[in-house]
Parts: sequence; structure tokens; C-alpha cells
Amino acid sequence: MNRIEAEERNRFLARLAGDFSIPVPVLRSIRGAFHEEMAHGLAGKPSSLRMIPSFVTRPTGGEKGRFLALDLGGTNCRVLGVELDGRGGASITAASRFVVPAALMHGPGGVLFDFLAGSVHSFFREHRREKPPERVLAFTFSFPVEQRSVSSGTLLGWTKAFTASGVEGEDVAVLLSAALERRGIGFVRVAALTNDTVGTLLAGGYADPSCDMGVILGTGTNACYPERPGRIRKLPGSRGGSEMIVNMEWGNFNRLEANRFDDLLDAASPNPGRQRLEKMVSGMYLGEIARLAVREMMEKGLLFPGTDGSAFSEPYSLATESLTLPARGDAAGLDSLGPGSASAEDRAAVREIGRLVAGRSARLAGSAIAAVLTWMDPGLEKDHAVAIDGALFEHNPGYRADIMETLDSLLGDRAAAVRLVLTKDGSGIGAAIAGAVAVQAAPEAG
Ligand code: GLC
Repeated sequence: MNRIEAEERNRFLARLAGDFSIPVPVLRSIRGAFHEEMAHGLAGKPSSLRMIPSFVTRPTGGEKGRFLALDLGGTNCRVLGVELDGRGGASITAASRFVVPAALMHGPGGVLFDFLAGSVHSFFREHRREKPPERVLAFTFSFPVEQRSVSSGTLLGWTKAFTASGVEGEDVAVLLSAALERRGIGFVRVAALTNDTVGTLLAGGYADPSCDMGVILGTGTNACYPERPGRIRKLPGSRGGSEMIVNMEWGNFNRLEANRFDDLLDAASPNPGRQRLEKMVSGMYLGEIARLAVREMMEKGLLFPGTDGSAFSEPYSLATESLTLPARGDAAGLDSLGPGSASAEDRAAVREIGRLVAGRSARLAGSAIAAVLTWMDPGLEKDHAVAIDGALFEHNPGYRADIMETLDSLLGDRAAAVRLVLTKDGSGIGAAIAGAVAVQAAPEAG
């Protein structure tokens, strides 16, 4: 690459930095837009935020019992045995993990649910539970479900990589119960149906009363928080009741300025127009956004010159993990990505793209977190622990730093009142708490 080409490349990267930057006034305006969408969603008006009541409150720490937890949200399904001691202590007594075959994510829903019931059955066998002590199951199902009670709800529409047929519009707890019956383990009762964000908040709040937000920053992204009585205007009877955790489904927030890569990704996705925030923030999509930018640079002859141009041509061939880690200064990871002849400059350019894409994701996540905290506590008078789970947050130290920096610029001194806490037990301990709440007879809808 000669000097003129190098200058052209640098100009391109500088323009790209502009495409992915979000100036502070724009970050600030996201808060206002979030608050409007939240209000509309809670009132049952059209909104990109579904604001789904979960029929669960935060835990007291006194929840007790032995539970099974079944977790489906991505490429793995987990079955866990969980024991809550009723004094804020919880332990996972047994765990099994199963890979969900890709064909099952896209095939008939009945086969997917048979696989889930089969996983519970295998868990019993693996852990020699001829007479299982846990017969009450909490189902963590990490998709938008319109709950009708703590233990029932219909799938509004698949998100992330799932498209299985015959599940949208159905009660997923009923589908699971029927599959357990078919598998010969109908004695297992599905007592709770929980979103992963709710499980994360419950797990975070079991021992820490200041925890009032659950966030997922992984394959998908979403959040939940406890809403005050009377503010869930679409739920008759909420006025007199107690607080209730609301699953926001914030991945669908759409009042954002998208760039040309976001639009390309969205148009080629199975759910165009939906999950616009998720498509700019979560791990499933960051690699693909970066791949589209890499392709544009290659087409302009600014990256991997002299190669046949076939590298990175396969959609979703650039994994988010291989991108964000080197983007944060880790030298490993780039070798498997491109043509073998990648020069030091090529590698630096790909790293820069990764840094821009991951940096925007963290700033959007930070502004969404700030929006929810100021909705609950406009003056930020209290301390807030935010329970966060997901690989994006867990494995990228720079990602947490970028969120904190965004909170600093949006909340000023009061950012010191916010603690981001990695909380990994949502789908186990959190789900079990939802099971305990359900067993203690939470209010049923309508
Ligand atoms: C997707 C799902 C949502 C879930 C999130 C994180 O956004 O729609 O329910 O919480 O992914 O797994």
C-alpha cells in the first residue's frame, strides 16, 4: 500500500468513526425517547417497548425450597437443580448443559419442546434422580412473552436466531407441560415462566436489596426493573397492588439513528424493522455489522489489496468474540479472520472497526441503563445495583469501562450511585426464586 492509498484508508476510517459515534446530546436525547416509549408501553399504547408485567416482585431473601430450572435462550439449553435456604442463601445442586441443534431452532416447534423435555429427562438420569426431589420447574424462556400470570404466557414473536414454527401466539408453559407429559415425566409441574432479565434481577436482589435492574448484554439484549404500583396503567388492578417487575424488551427500541450497515443488516434479517436496538448492541450482531464495514473497505480496495476478495463474503462469518477481544488490545484472534496475507495495517484497520462497533454498543447500553435508572429515580437519590449477565459484558473489560464513561457523562456525580454487578445465576437461582414466588401463590391475571 503506497502513501496515497494509506491516506485514503485513514480518511475512510475517520469517516467510519463518524458513522459510529454518538455525540453526548444524542445520548441524552435517547433518555427522553426511552421515557416516552416506556410510558406508552405501560399504558398499553403503541410503543417499541412492550413493557411486559412479569407478575413477580423482588425477592425478600426468605424464598425457600428445591426447584428445577430449565433455561432456553440461545444455542445452549441448561437444566439445573437449585436449593434456596430461605435465609438469602442459594446453591446449584446439579447442572446439565445441552447444545440446541440449529435445525431445531428453525423446525417445527413441537420437536423443539420435545428436545427440552428430553433434556429434563436426561438431567434426571445423569444425576440419578430416580425419585427427583425437585418436581417444581421454573422455565427461563428468553424471548418476548406476554405473561398472563407468573406461570403462563404467549410468545409474541421469536427474536435472536430462533424461528421455530407453531410457537408464536401459543402459551409456551402449556407447550412445555405437554412435552413433559409425552416424555413420561408429567409429574414435573411448570410453576414459573421467566425472562432471563427477570431471573438476573431476582438473583441479584436475593442478597442485595439495592439491586433494582436486571440487564442482559449477550447474544441478545434486554432489561427489567421493578415498577411502582399504579404506573402499569394497562394492567387493571395494579394500582392497589405492590411493585411488579416489568420486562421491557428493550431490544426492540427503535428511536435511534441507524447507519447504512445497520440498515443492511436489518433488511437481511428474519425480522426486519424489529429489534433495532438489539441489532446495534448485542453479541449476535456486532460481528456482522463489522463484517459489512470490512466488506465496504475491501470493495473500495482499501483492505486486503491483491487478494481475491472472497474473504468475509459469508454473512455472520465474523464472530463478535474474535472482533471485540482484539479490539480491546488483545493481539490474538485476527489470524483466523481474513486472508492469510493480512498485513499489519489490515489487522489494525479491522481492529479499529471492531473498536468502533463495540464502543457504540456500550454507549447505547449505557444510555439505556441511564434512562431506566432516571425513570425509577429521577434525582438519583438512592444507590442502585444493576445486575448484568451476558458474554459481551463479562468478557470485555473495555465494554464495562465504556458503559461507566457514558453513565458519567449522562449522570454526572450521581453516576457514583450506580454499581454494575456481574450476576451469573439468573437462569438458575433467579428462576428458582420465581418458582418459589409462584408456589407462594402470586396474583393471577384476569
Ligand atoms: C432478546 C429477547 C429477550 C431476552 C434478550 C436477552 O431480546 O427478546 O426476551 O431477554 O434477548 O436474552
